[in-house]
Amino acid sequence: MRHLIDITDLSVEELDAVMDRADDIIAHPEQYAHACEGKKIAALFFEPSTRTRLSFEAAMSELGGKVLSVTGASSSSQAKGESVSDTIIMASCYVDIIAMRHPKEGAAFVAAGKAGVPFINAGDGGHLHPTQTLADLLTIRRECGRLTGLTVGMCGDLKYGRTVHSLTHAMQRYPGTRFVFISPEELKIPAYVTEELEEKGIPYEVTTSLSDALPSLDILYMTRVQRERFDDPEVYERLKDSYILNAAMLENAKDSLRILHPLPRVNEISTDVDGDIRACYFKEALYGKYMRMALILFLLEQAGENGDHLKRLERIRTESVKPEGIRGEVCENPRCISGTEQELPPLYRPTGKTDAEGRTICRCIYCETEKAIRLNV
Ligand code: CP
Repeated sequence: MRHLIDITDLSVEELDAVMDRADDIIAHPEQYAHACEGKKIAALFFEPSTRTRLSFEAAMSELGGKVLSVTGASSSSQAKGESVSDTIIMASCYVDIIAMRHPKEGAAFVAAGKAGVPFINAGDGGHLHPTQTLADLLTIRRECGRLTGLTVGMCGDLKYGRTVHSLTHAMQRYPGTRFVFISPEELKIPAYVTEELEEKGIPYEVTTSLSDALPSLDILYMTRVQRERFDDPEVYERLKDSYILNAAMLENAKDSLRILHPLPRVNEISTDVDGDIRACYFKEALYGKYMRMALILFLLEQAGENGDHLKRLERIRTESVKPEGIRGEVCENPRCISGTEQELPPLYRPTGKTDAEGRTICRCIYCETEKAIRLNV
C-alpha cells in the first residue's frame, strides 16, 4: 500500500513514470476512459478548494470511476468532533482511494497511518501540497523541456506556502537546480527547508527584491499571501501587497522564463501578465488534472487487489502504523494536528543539531516545527 504525504514519497524514477503517464493521457485520453471502472475516490475537503477538489473529481470521472465528496468540515461529522483518524477509517470502508485536504499540519501523516486504501495529501495546512507539485513538475518539464539546470525563484509567502515547501523538496532532487527565495522578512522560507539545502550543497539565495532576482530566473513561482494562515489580521494587511508582478516588470526577464502560480491569485500577478506567453498558471492547473489521473492509476496499481471492505477494517485494526519518535512536550505550532487529535503523543525526531544550551534541535514528526529538547537527562 503506497500513500502520497510528501512529494519525496515518490522516487525521481517514479515521478518520471507518473509524468510519462500524464503525457500519454494528454495524447490518448480515450485509452484511459475505462481505467478506473468500478473504483471510487473519496474527495474529503475540510478547507476551501477549487482546483484541487475539482481536478481530483474530474480525474476520477475521466478514468471511468466514481467520486464521493465532502466539502467543508461543517458538512461532515468532523463538525461533531470526529477525529481525522476515525474519518479515514470510515472512508476506507466505502472507497478505493482517498484524497484529503485539512487545515491542520500533519493531518495527512496521521490519516495515512490509518488508511486502509491509498491516501493522497491534497494539502495539510501550511505544511505540504504534493499533488500541486506534480502539476508544477509536469508544467516545468513540458514548458522548459527539462527539470535539470534551472534557476527557480519562489516569491511571496514562503513561510506558510505549502506549495513552495513541496516544490522545493521536489526540485532539489534534480541536478543543477538553484533556488532564489524572495519574500518579506516575516514570511521567510522556514529554516528546516534551507538547512536541508545546505546539507545537500544545493545553492540558494534569500532576497526581499523581486526586481533584482527576476533577470536570472528560469522559473518564477509566485504565491499568494494567505489571509487564512495569519493569527493577526494587521500583519496580513501590512504584508498582503508585498509583491505584485506586472507586465512592465517582465521586460527585464528572460524570454524563456516560465511563470507559475498554484492559484488562487488575489493581486500578486496583475491580469496584464495573463496574455504573456511566459504565463503558465492556467495551463499548470489543467496539467494538475492529468497528473492526478496518472497518480490515481499509479497508487491503485501499487495497491493491487485490496481485499473486501471487512478485510480492510481488519487490516487497519492489526496493521495501523504507530508513529515513532522521542517523547517531548506539546508542539508549539498552533496549527499542528497533535494539538487537536486525540491520543497523538507529542513526538519528535532529532535533526543532529544542538542549540547554544546544548539541547538537541528536534522536529515534530507531524508538522516539522522545530523544538529544542534536552535528551538523556
Ligand atoms: N492550487 C490549489 O491548491 O488551489 P485550490 O486551493 O483551489 O485547490
